[in-house]
Amino acid sequence: MAIISVQNLSKHFKVFKHHRGTLGAVRNLFSRQHTIVRAVDEISFNIQAGELVGYIGPNGAGKSTTIKMLTGLLVPTSGELLVNNLVPWKERQKYVSRVGAVFGQRTTLWWDLPVIESLSLLQYIYKIPADRFTANLKEFRDTLELDPFLDTPVRALSLGQRMRADLCAALLHDPDLLFLDEPTIGLDVVAKERIRQFIQKINRQRGTTVILTTHDLSDVEKLCQRVLIIDHGKLLFDGALNSLKERFSSKRELLVEFAEVYDEPIIDSAEISHVDGSRVSYLFSRDDISASELIGQLSAKYRIRDLEVREPEIEETIRRIYEERLLE
Ligand SMILES: Nc1ncnc2c1ncn2[C@@H]1O[C@H](COP(=O)(O)OP(=O)(O)OP(=O)(O)O)[C@@H](O)[C@H]1O
Ligand SMILES: [Mg+2]
Repeated sequence: MAIISVQNLSKHFKVFKHHRGTLGAVRNLFSRQHTIVRAVDEISFNIQAGELVGYIGPNGAGKSTTIKMLTGLLVPTSGELLVNNLVPWKERQKYVSRVGAVFGQRTTLWWDLPVIESLSLLQYIYKIPADRFTANLKEFRDTLELDPFLDTPVRALSLGQRMRADLCAALLHDPDLLFLDEPTIGLDVVAKERIRQFIQKINRQRGTTVILTTHDLSDVEKLCQRVLIIDHGKLLFDGALNSLKERFSSKRELLVEFAEVYDEPIIDSAEISHVDGSRVSYLFSRDDISASELIGQLSAKYRIRDLEVREPEIEETIRRIYEERLLE
């Protein structure tokens, strides 16, 4: 049974044309000209309990709008959405006790309250049993290293500290599901890594289902087996990260250092992309030849000192998908 089931889900926004100037202000009162933005456009997917899924796409693709519908903050224009067998926006109260959410762009904590008081308020709001609250707080203080800033008002926290406090807040009530909208945005490499490890731990140890949107593809590579790609409100890809790489990877590269300098060491089925004395790099495609065949052919003709095969980076693959809209 899927924990999240989404069927032809859409969210359209009416954006009203705005006329500028004094006369424009008057016109704004009377004209109701608008355009429709299809922020999310007929998407369908299922997510099983315990999955950790990456939800990626370029700016304005519809990621946050989807997450807001999943968390019950936005009412869909059409389509069906069931999370934990509940319709998020209809059964709000029952629903929020089962899910947690972190929006990297803004905090869900009280701006002026010290972190610890924000967390205590949540215990009261979610009616978290005292023993669960104490046990969870103890664990998260430890794993998220909250102690140095527990008494600091949220507004005075650094971005990384704030994100850790928000993660703790989202998980205190033992939700089955965790929605993370850009949880690593703006963090330095070390802070990112710490957040990633924490997310992975929660998913593995507690079996919490996690949906994660991000612009940092290392998040996806390190955490998610499955990835959904959305662009212009349409779901473009749903599958394993590996199969995405295999289907859409650009050319692989073979870097060779020959034992001597050859004048154009040509080989069929691979093209020379760069020559620097005895160092030559070739580009080849998985469909034409395997790396070992290519190396075999080269070593039959030339004397090789050293070589290295470079796979295209996931960044490169995804960039190509966004830019060339390969999946249409
Ligand atoms: N409240 C709103 N009113 C009108 N248009 C909106 C509203 N919220 C989102 N949109 C539009 O819907 C589209 C999708 O926005 P969304 O925030 O879901 O994108 P995103 O994938 O989260 O992008 P980003 O990576 O920049 O966060 C955009 O064109 C955006 O301008
Ligand atoms: Mg967003």
